[in-house]
Amino acid sequence: MKVPKHIAIIMDGNGRWAKSRGLPRTMGHLEGSKRFREIVKESLNLGIKALTAFAFSTENWARSKKEVDFLFNNMAGFVKTYKKELIANGAKFNFIGRRDRLPQFLVGELEKLEAETYPNKKFILNVALDYGGRWDIVEAAKKIAVDYKNNKIKKENIDELLFSDYLSLSGICPPDLLIRTSGEKRISNFLLWDLAYAEFYFTDIHWPDFKKSQLHLAVEEYSKRDRRFGRDA
Ligand code: IPE
Ligand code: IPE
Ligand code: MG
Repeated sequence: MKVPKHIAIIMDGNGRWAKSRGLPRTMGHLEGSKRFREIVKESLNLGIKALTAFAFSTENWARSKKEVDFLFNNMAGFVKTYKKELIANGAKFNFIGRRDRLPQFLVGELEKLEAETYPNKKFILNVALDYGGRWDIVEAAKKIAVDYKNNKIKKENIDELLFSDYLSLSGICPPDLLIRTSGEKRISNFLLWDLAYAEFYFTDIHWPDFKKSQLHLAVEEYSKRDRRFGRDA
């Protein structure tokens, strides 16, 4: 079976999952982190090489302070207990997104995890936090402007390849497959540049119900897709 090298996941539907059970939204996030752990593990088992997960968007600040605080506290606690497993699996952790607005205790934990997993090569795990695809592109443009001003690059050398080097996922092959759970059929400002040629897979299953078997279904569907990249059929 043709397995994607890199999958991107919009882990959506935690709130609806909780609501349907009469639980507070936060319980959906808690259950969602368990699935995240399982899906990373299963991705490794399937021979997938990289996974990029959307955990908090630049737009998610619009939620209640109670929910946002819960998410950050839960993530910081999660990182601490998850570290050992990630290292044992030979995974390298990368945090993509703005680092200037998140609470320091969380950024500190994430940066420690990045440093401790830095040499690992078997698998790359990117987590997008306070991330927006538009922000990513604007940041790249700003960095290019600085390098241009400092004579590090010439205008004629700015092309798609060089531009992508300035993005958060530089050096990583772009996602082959995007999975979005919970029925919404939109990108919600995730990896705008990198998803240019990804295959999209949407499922009505809420993220806390997205178990191993659901990942298998997504990969199976991907394996049947005919990726043409503009060629004739
Ligand atoms: C995804 O689930 C998690 C985050 C966006 C942080 P949601 O919290 O968006 O759940 P729904 O979409 O409201 O059900
Ligand atoms: C996208 O989900 C962001 C994450 C999963 C982290 P949202 O629930 O925020 O997206 P919208 O609001 O439905 O577009
Ligand atoms: Mg949502």
